[in-house]
Amino acid sequence: MAEPALRISELTKDFGGLRAVDNISLQVDEGELVGLIGPNGCGKTTTFNCISGMLKLTSGKVEVLGQDATEMRPDQIQRLGLTRTFQHTWLWREMTVVENLLVPPRHQFQPNALLALLKPGTRESEAKRIQNAYEVLDLLEVPHMAHNLTSELSGGQSKLVDIGRALMSDPRFLLLDEPVAGVAGPLAERIFQNLRRLTTERGIGMLVIEHNMDFILRRDVDRIIVMNNGQVLMEGSPKEIRESRDVIEAYLGSSGEVPND
Ligand SMILES: Nc1ncnc2c1ncn2[C@@H]1O[C@H](COP(=O)(O)OP(=O)(O)OP(=O)(O)O)[C@@H](O)[C@H]1O
Ligand SMILES: [Mg+2]
Repeated sequence: MAEPALRISELTKDFGGLRAVDNISLQVDEGELVGLIGPNGCGKTTTFNCISGMLKLTSGKVEVLGQDATEMRPDQIQRLGLTRTFQHTWLWREMTVVENLLVPPRHQFQPNALLALLKPGTRESEAKRIQNAYEVLDLLEVPHMAHNLTSELSGGQSKLVDIGRALMSDPRFLLLDEPVAGVAGPLAERIFQNLRRLTTERGIGMLVIEHNMDFILRRDVDRIIVMNNGQVLMEGSPKEIRESRDVIEAYLGSSGEVPND
């Protein structure tokens, strides 16, 4: 059987006396769209920071596209094909959308990228990158935004540019940290439809953090993983999650109020 695109085994991360991630194991296959949900502070972003090499694990193992990435730096992990976005979108406000796409993602800038500018063939590859930026905007169905300053965009449009920037590296795996937080309903739905299309058509694996349980339960995702207190509480199809009392109680206390269907 093929290796999963992402496999986390018994990952634990402590900050001093605080255990933020507590022995979690999970995997995501190529072409799978998996939601990661859980209450504030339950360890979702810390898990992403550990996978992408931004934090050193306290213990456990991370395998990305069949390679042991546990000890790798962020730029090495990106070269394996894994790209991430951040919970708080940060764009160059004085630059256009297309210019923003041409800036390498934060923290995943390759140390030799500046040297590469001096190498022959750089102009051709730059032309290719510019073409790629327009193709990414087509893919996200927002070619009309190409020359807008990002300071003119709505929160939702900024999130799209952020996803576009992640796609610029032609990733095989994406970690998206709340890609639709603060985005109005219809645009948030469209973003998820685009993510679904990318997983299906391009075989990209995706693990997507979402804080709105009601929203993710209605999306076309393959699986949802629920974290609580640093642990994986359960995983299953949206239908299975909806029917689980444990999950509902973790979210809503013991009131047992079921999210709207
Ligand atoms: N760099 C850090 N140093 C110390 N504590 C941290 C650090 N990063 C996160 N924490 C703590 O680890 C716990 C998990 O935080 P994390 O950001 O992973 O949660 P989250 O599930 O992403 O929450 P949210 O839904 O609010 O984004 C929290 O108690 C947080 O305060
Ligand atoms: Mg977070």
